[in-house]
Amino acid sequence: MARIVAVINLKGGIGKTTTVVNLSAGLALKGARVLLIDIDAQGNLAMALGVRARRTLYEAIVEHKPLADLRINARPNLDLVAADESLLLAQQAMAGRADWVRVLEQLVRPLRPEYDFIFFDCGGSLTVLNQNALMAATEVIVPTTVEPFSVRGLEKLIAQIARVKGSTSVVRAIIPTMVDPRMKQSIELLAHLNRTYGRLVMPPVRVNVRLSEAAAVGKTIYEHDPRSRGALDYAQIVELLSKEWHFQPARPAPPVPAQARPAGPAGRGEPIVTGGGEVQTNTCPNCGHSLQRATVAGYRITYCANCRYRRQELINGGG
Ligand SMILES: Nc1ncnc2c1ncn2[C@@H]1O[C@H](COP(=O)(O)OP(=O)(O)OP(=O)(O)O)[C@@H](O)[C@H]1O
Ligand SMILES: [Mg+2]
Repeated sequence: MARIVAVINLKGGIGKTTTVVNLSAGLALKGARVLLIDIDAQGNLAMALGVRARRTLYEAIVEHKPLADLRINARPNLDLVAADESLLLAQQAMAGRADWVRVLEQLVRPLRPEYDFIFFDCGGSLTVLNQNALMAATEVIVPTTVEPFSVRGLEKLIAQIARVKGSTSVVRAIIPTMVDPRMKQSIELLAHLNRTYGRLVMPPVRVNVRLSEAAAVGKTIYEHDPRSRGALDYAQIVELLSKEWHFQPARPAPPVPAQARPAGPAGRGEPIVTGGGEVQTNTCPNCGHSLQRATVAGYRITYCANCRYRRQELINGGG
């Protein structure tokens, strides 16, 4: 049965779609079967994955077509139900229904046995569709920038989630995005987030122009530049959440497309995110907790889930 994950923040432009693409692509590379559903009328998800969809979520909501008929295969293990501006009309149609808040839940129910994860890429306000996604969600992931308004907005969002779900226990992760580690304010706000939300706060995704380039050319960050900071940051979150979700791929990871393989001596076609990379090595030099290890994009990353210590080394000793 798929976990249903709503990736939501009521602010726009803070990295929701980037997070959905690179988190889901990382899980798919590990062997998870993933379905993405774009519930934002901007329709960015198909563009970010470089695919064209003839059919969209509108048909499911307004014309009652099964979601299964509308999905397209974007990558191995990664399917997508796309959106476009017609979703605005669909929302109006939904708002008139007695069961308006459970429309998405009913649509995804038949597909749950086919996937390990179903992600909703939400728009940046509390729309009818976002409320539907929250209703359907078994998990919520909240990307947020580390700016004063965003951090304050987070409290409001979490209160809203509690209102819709009756509890905040569905909030699985808060992902700090576009973090510039050289900015004092970012570091202070990160520390505040860690104090307030504890282990829910994932390691930050740093500002990385490769992430926006990747979306512009319709590639995941692992395809566009698997050695970039963006790839490393998202891959680390993939590893942490896989562990949190006890996700063990039942199948071997699919082959990595040739263009995604790191070039040079380090590459040799290793999977970008390997399954089973979670072996304990030694202890963290900062806090003494056990270090974890993941293999990604030709690097071995050793990290501490407790204090965010991280060390990375090129596999095979190259570069
Ligand atoms: N870590 C990052 N570093 C640099 N640029 C980033 C990063 N994350 C996202 N971006 C870029 O910032 C812009 C907004 O990101 P994205 O589209 O993921 O946000 P969003 O929250 O989904 O926006 P919207 O509310 O419009 O749907 C995009 O151009 C994206 O490529
Ligand atoms: Mg978006």
